[in-house]
Amino acid sequence: MKILVFRNKEEASQYAANIITNKLREKPDLRLGLATGSTPILLYQDLVNDHVQNQTSWSNVITFNLDEYKGLSAHDVDSYHHFMNEHLFSKININDKNTFFPNAKTDYDDLIKQYGGIDIQILGIGRNGHIAFNEPGASEYSKTRLVDLDQDTIQVNANKFFNGDIKKVPTQAFSMGLKTIMEAKQIILLAFGADKSKAIQTILQAQEYNKDCPATVLIKHPNVLVLVDSEVNLGM
Ligand code: F6R
Repeated sequence: MKILVFRNKEEASQYAANIITNKLREKPDLRLGLATGSTPILLYQDLVNDHVQNQTSWSNVITFNLDEYKGLSAHDVDSYHHFMNEHLFSKININDKNTFFPNAKTDYDDLIKQYGGIDIQILGIGRNGHIAFNEPGASEYSKTRLVDLDQDTIQVNANKFFNGDIKKVPTQAFSMGLKTIMEAKQIILLAFGADKSKAIQTILQAQEYNKDCPATVLIKHPNVLVLVDSEVNLGM
């Protein structure tokens, strides 16, 4: 695991965007794992800027999102489908048919395998250490499945999205499993802001998988890059 500290989230996001766009030029049919939430918004903006300025093509790219709320339709403004359309998909030349989200009907892990696996997986992290919606207690061998959201996650997501209305936040979501995430060839974890410090410190100190902080599973992956801004206290 390699960790890089940036002055701010703008610089960290640009760094991640450069990795993706360089890889896209080398492999136009990139298989990309995508996250939602507040963290990757600048990264998606940088990818859109690159598409506009350099005409980088996304026509052969396949994307797999980490998660989607149960019970929200793709058109719901609070759904992750809507988030991805708004921040990325509608602004690049990706084919809608090449963008996938976990749901009740698809064997997502099998689908990812059919496409040859994920080349680069983008991750954010919850302040409780979740990645995708693998909440504390998740098995490191978990596959994509329906999960219950942690009360803390529901509260945090109500504050950031859903107009602050906690009653609107679904209590369950379809989420890639930890094993699914670990099968990606390369992982880029972004963490911005002081409230991610504890989770990042727990990863850096971990010797083995700690189910109280699911992101600790990443210490076992051979190619993980953690990009943080200077607000994250690494405890060093
Ligand atoms: C979203 C996801 C979540 C978020 C995490 C951090 O697709 O998988 O694990 O990455 O909840 O959210 P933000 O970025 O809003 O702090």
